Amino acid sequence: MSNKWINLSDKVVIVTGGAGGIGEAMVRNFAANGARTISADIKINEEYKNIELIDSIICDVSSKKSIDNMVETVFKKYGRIDGLINNAGVGRIRLLIDYYGKKPEMESSEDDFDYMVNINQKGVFFCSQAVARIMVNQKRGVIVNVTSEAGIEGSKAQSIYAGTKAAVHAFGLSWAKELGPYNVRVVGLEPAMNERTNLGGGGYFEELSYARGQEPDPKKIHSDYSKKIPLGRLGRLEELADLACYLVSDHASYITGTTISITGGKSKG
Ligand SMILES: NC(=O)c1ccc[n+]([C@@H]2O[C@H](COP(=O)([O-])OP(=O)(O)OC[C@H]3O[C@@H](n4cnc5c(N)ncnc54)[C@H](O)[C@@H]3O)[C@@H](O)[C@H]2O)c1
Repeated sequence: MSNKWINLSDKVVIVTGGAGGIGEAMVRNFAANGARTISADIKINEEYKNIELIDSIICDVSSKKSIDNMVETVFKKYGRIDGLINNAGVGRIRLLIDYYGKKPEMESSEDDFDYMVNINQKGVFFCSQAVARIMVNQKRGVIVNVTSEAGIEGSKAQSIYAGTKAAVHAFGLSWAKELGPYNVRVVGLEPAMNERTNLGGGGYFEELSYARGQEPDPKKIHSDYSKKIPLGRLGRLEELADLACYLVSDHASYITGTTISITGGKSKG
């Protein structure tokens, strides 16, 4: 799952949502390349206990207090923070209104709104604020915000999710202007459709099918996606993890204030 290809042995990197999915691929890749890597997640990945360079800290990014505790703990232990990957994110498939009139629960509620905004948007803001204080003092650091192609192109039945991702893209543009003079870079990493992670769990496919007026057939939905991707396949989690490693490395020292699309060309043709 991970490969050694870049030297990150002088880096201390926090990955939020690092216990599973894309975050897990990133945590494993950072550690494989020598970075002291901290998975900050609401759950612990027990497999990390056997990997020397990985630490796990329980952190709920929807809580500023939990974020501040996590960042303080990391800084106290290592005395520096070189990278923050704002990866923790959640999605619920919801329509603006239930125009089919059969599933009122598919209409976006206040709870849906607060849940996605608190984790995807507020969480990114306060993780970045806590870490930026340290990075500005160090005059060194990189913040990578995991956005989504949905935030640029829009996505049927994902308007709240897409809105949070567009906001996070915009955060990065502004923070790059604020933090650039302190040698702190801010970059967005924009995936589209990838190998299965837990983001597609629960009733995801049934809900997506209903919202899009399709038969609930996961295979069909996935093959339809692949047809929309010029490279003809879903993204691999390692590909996203490699990009995160590169962006945190000094090889990317002139990249800031932009979001890098890693989508196999989806929505570009
Ligand atoms: N999977 C995709 O195809 C895809 C596409 C575009 C963007 N993204 C983005 O990539 C990121 C990772 O998604 P994923 O597919 O790996 O999701 P996932 O559900 O597989 O993993 C998310 C991780 O975040 C953690 N998490 C959830 N709530 C949290 C909280 N409040 N505080 C801290 N950690 C929390 C979970 O425990 C889990 O380990 C998200 O920001 C998502 O929006 C994913």
